[in-house]
Amino acid sequence: MKIGICSDHAGVEYKARLIAYLTKKGHEVVNFGTDSTESMDYSDVAHPLAAAVEKGEVERGIALCGTGNGMAMTLNHHQGIRAGLAWNKAVGALVKEHNDANVLVMPARFISYTMATAIVRTWIETEFAGGRHARRIAKIPVK
Ligand code: RB5
Repeated sequence: MKIGICSDHAGVEYKARLIAYLTKKGHEVVNFGTDSTESMDYSDVAHPLAAAVEKGEVERGIALCGTGNGMAMTLNHHQGIRAGLAWNKAVGALVKEHNDANVLVMPARFISYTMATAIVRTWIETEFAGGRHARRIAKIPVK
């Protein structure tokens, strides 16, 4: 799978490790930054990642910041994005099964790296359930 990934300074270490993990698993990973621990603004990397998902340049995206909220808020301003925040494996599965999240967001300051990889693996392996959940997500965009 071709996956785009971004983080702010709070998620940069997990991002680097996830890029190595996903590449080893055979995925093609596109890094949208940041690659520094210098304080920066999450929206500067979230918008380019969202645009790449919307244009189909990457199939899915992963975003990390301290709480995950800044990334999720920014990403969800894009019409073609359903960014879902996950902090454990169960939520990582449900955010795909029920919400068909095309961007997975994680709170780097509040989960372990081991948990982050478990969430990513679960989100990649889980299928969208469709049915009533398809009806629900169809009602999300502002008409
Ligand atoms: C950075 O200090 C922090 O505000 C950011 O990583 C994120 O948690 C924002 O939502």
